[in-house]
Amino acid sequence: MTDEELLKLAEKAAEHSYCKYSGFSVGAALLCEDGTVFTGCNVENGSFSLANCAERTAVFKAVSEGHRSFRKIAVVGSADGDFSKACFPCGACLQVLSEFCGGDFTFVLPDGAYTLDDLLPKRFEL
Ligand code: THU
Repeated sequence: MTDEELLKLAEKAAEHSYCKYSGFSVGAALLCEDGTVFTGCNVENGSFSLANCAERTAVFKAVSEGHRSFRKIAVVGSADGDFSKACFPCGACLQVLSEFCGGDFTFVLPDGAYTLDDLLPKRFEL
């Protein structure tokens, strides 16, 4: 699975985004160590704080299906359907991924790749 293919899957997932309040569609595609891909989109709610991000949707789908070893995640987001600009994952999603991934876990964004160490260098650990 190339980074470009993973980004395409993230874009496809963004088509299912339920973002009637923000108008901002996000899609994610999470590649597991065994090659399985789980996709996710953001799912908003009239009670705004209940919105779930695309990345966490993908992680929770994967973990609930028995997958906990991840290689990388592609993320795209846009308010106008142009997914060419980088949409960085929020802190909550970085923290959720840090539960399962080491510092070399990779985020594939349209402008290039970043590690978890790049984006969340000091992580909370219980
Ligand atoms: N969102 C994500 O899906 N992922 C992120 O990492 C940041 C934000 C969503 C949440 C909300 O539905 C919309 O983007 C605007 O904040």
